[in-house]
Amino acid sequence: MASAHHHILGHELGSPIVSAGTVEHLDAIMGIEESSFSAPWTRRMFEVELTDNPFARFLTAHIENADQGPKGPLDLVGYVCFWVVFEELRMMNLAVATHVRRRGIGRWLLQQALTMGREEGARRALLEVRASNHPAVALYECAGFSRSGVRTKYYTKPVEDAVLMELEL
Ligand SMILES: CC(C)(COP(=O)(O)OP(=O)(O)OC[C@H]1O[C@@H](n2cnc3c(N)ncnc32)[C@H](O)[C@@H]1OP(=O)(O)O)[C@@H](O)C(=O)NCCC(=O)NCCS
Repeated sequence: MASAHHHILGHELGSPIVSAGTVEHLDAIMGIEESSFSAPWTRRMFEVELTDNPFARFLTAHIENADQGPKGPLDLVGYVCFWVVFEELRMMNLAVATHVRRRGIGRWLLQQALTMGREEGARRALLEVRASNHPAVALYECAGFSRSGVRTKYYTKPVEDAVLMELEL
């Protein structure tokens, strides 16, 4: 009871609530995924990460629904999927719903992931990002990541280079 109350207080102050992703979140996740990427992950890909991959970690961000207020159910507005493979944290997916972008939710999810990875023993974080994805590159640079290389024509739909980034944890 006390901790639930604490969460609600934190929520009223504007910070999202974090939860471990489950298959029950798949509908909401797919809605965000399909409006965020030109080559979105499929539902099956998320299912594998949520249920079958022992290296995968999945966090979801939830905030108050603008119409229903503090007593209504919370909306899932973002998620992060990452792998912790021994000393390495590999960012696999991160997205925030379009209507709540630029409010710190992406930064907050990324920090939650980095903290969790560090606690599990990861010593460096790695990721790839489309070269044209300026919002994401800016977010990762803000979090301390630096560019470590380029993979030419790594992506399809459209074909594009990947920028490799890494961070010592
Ligand atoms: C990238 C993404 C997750 C950022 O989420 P967000 O909640 O909007 O980001 P935040 O509000 O936490 O932004 C944190 C910082 O990142 C940078 N940033 C985020 N969006 C930006 C934008 N559109 N333009 C420039 N910088 C941006 C800023 O430095 C920002 O700090 P500031 O708002 O104090 O200036 C979101 O834009 C998204 O879901 N994009 C589509 C999916 C995607 O590209 N995912 C990453 C794949 S590698």
